[in-house]
Amino acid sequence: MKFFIDTANLDEIREVHGWGILAGVTTNPSLVAREGGDFVERIHQICEIVKGHVSAEVLAQDVDGMEREGRLWARVSPCVVVKVPLTTAGLGACKRLSADGIKVNVTLCFQAGQALFAAAAGATYISPFVGRVDDVTWDGNELIRQIAEIYALDADIHTQVLAASLRHPMHVIQAALAGAHVGTVPYKVLKQMVGHPLTDKGNQMFLDDWKKVPDNDIGGQVARWLANR
Ligand code: E4P
Repeated sequence: MKFFIDTANLDEIREVHGWGILAGVTTNPSLVAREGGDFVERIHQICEIVKGHVSAEVLAQDVDGMEREGRLWARVSPCVVVKVPLTTAGLGACKRLSADGIKVNVTLCFQAGQALFAAAAGATYISPFVGRVDDVTWDGNELIRQIAEIYALDADIHTQVLAASLRHPMHVIQAALAGAHVGTVPYKVLKQMVGHPLTDKGNQMFLDDWKKVPDNDIGGQVARWLANR
């Protein structure tokens, strides 16, 4: 499973990009509004940092308006993936944009039938919202599993399952097990996933033991060994 970060915060994106794990970014109007500033400039800056797929959402609600905004978004950067809601207009816009080679992320998916329609409309990504499904007492992970299984049955479907609304580390692990191609994960959850007290403890023990060695400059030792070969 590839990792995207679900944020419009540049510091968070820069930091996680530095970890070497980041394949892309998802934003939505709520996330961009939270950061303030110019929406388009923000998306361009994110594309410059990540150079992977960056979702930017249309705000129009009719098919012509979505197509127009989507074509404009696609000119901001080749990294931009146009995000459209899973409405009939969104599906129509997805069909028009993807027919012209513009990548589309169809978002706000809450049932497998919607995911089938997104694939039929040529979506690059379908975004099922795991946490929001859990919020209404169904099983968000079961939704990922159903969509991944249905897509795998049809060799003509190339739409990738982008598990969204992941709220804690187990959501991420379960989405990977259920067959999601991508997980878009908030910064806070990525931080929870990368750290483990036993990793820190073990690392400290290695460092403490190595300090007891008289010549403990390992860089110097390796350089000398290489020079004397
Ligand atoms: C996905 O693209 C959305 O931005 C996001 O995952 C929504 O998550 P939330 O339900 O936690 O707001």
